[in-house]
Amino acid sequence: MSDITIATLDRMKKQGEKIAVLTCYDASFARLLEDAGVEVLLVGDSLGMVIQGQESTLPVRVDDMVYHSRNVARARRHALMVVDMPFMSYSSAAQALDTAGRLMKEGGAHMVKLEGGTTQLETVRHLVAHAVPVCAHLGLLPQSVHKLGGYRVQGRDGESARIMKEEALALQEAGAQMLVLECVPAALAGEISRLLDIPVIGIGAGPDCDGQVLVLYDMLGIAADAPPRFVKNFLTGAGTIPGALAAYVRAVKEGGFPGPEHGF
Ligand code: KIV
Repeated sequence: MSDITIATLDRMKKQGEKIAVLTCYDASFARLLEDAGVEVLLVGDSLGMVIQGQESTLPVRVDDMVYHSRNVARARRHALMVVDMPFMSYSSAAQALDTAGRLMKEGGAHMVKLEGGTTQLETVRHLVAHAVPVCAHLGLLPQSVHKLGGYRVQGRDGESARIMKEEALALQEAGAQMLVLECVPAALAGEISRLLDIPVIGIGAGPDCDGQVLVLYDMLGIAADAPPRFVKNFLTGAGTIPGALAAYVRAVKEGGFPGPEHGF
């Protein structure tokens, strides 16, 4: 199998083939996820909660991200590897470049992900100008949980939906090559996916995005916290971890997941 690159994902979007993404934090799961046909391994800062037992993603350090990325990179054969920049590691464009440099050089990342819209445009431009591929993240921004006052659906009213569409377009214009939309009404996420040329990956954002992502431990039903409404447990029914991963990829590709019960 040839390497999955951003060009592969662009082609999939154009051809209407859904992209299967899962979070991944270690070598053993990296192998299983690839065997199941997952195209993008996201080393998410959700590892703060599901691996480290933290209350939020805020305490996660760049060193933690580098450690987990290296473990994933050692086992990766062809999937695209996207790595989260943790809270306070991209507060200026210069700091973002340092962080991205470490994630790519030491961690093996192919692309880095950052949260935010208008405030991140200069940083996105700076990273892209230095050959760092960027995945943007709009909607519910877990690193802003205290500012948002909790984990809530975003873009429900006309004004916030308008701002999100504008920010998505501006991030694409700034050079972002992928966008994650988290906890966004399905109709708005579908509209943004059609509006943009870059692949849009949804989590709690309905079926009309170009691809789907879930936190691995959530979709296996092994996370300590109760799963959010947009999560489906794929282990129940499949019986084995490889079976659950294959069922997830199949459901994403065939449009069986997410269903209306997983959306807003
Ligand atoms: O950290 C993470 O796992 C993420 C996903 C929720 C998209 O950013």
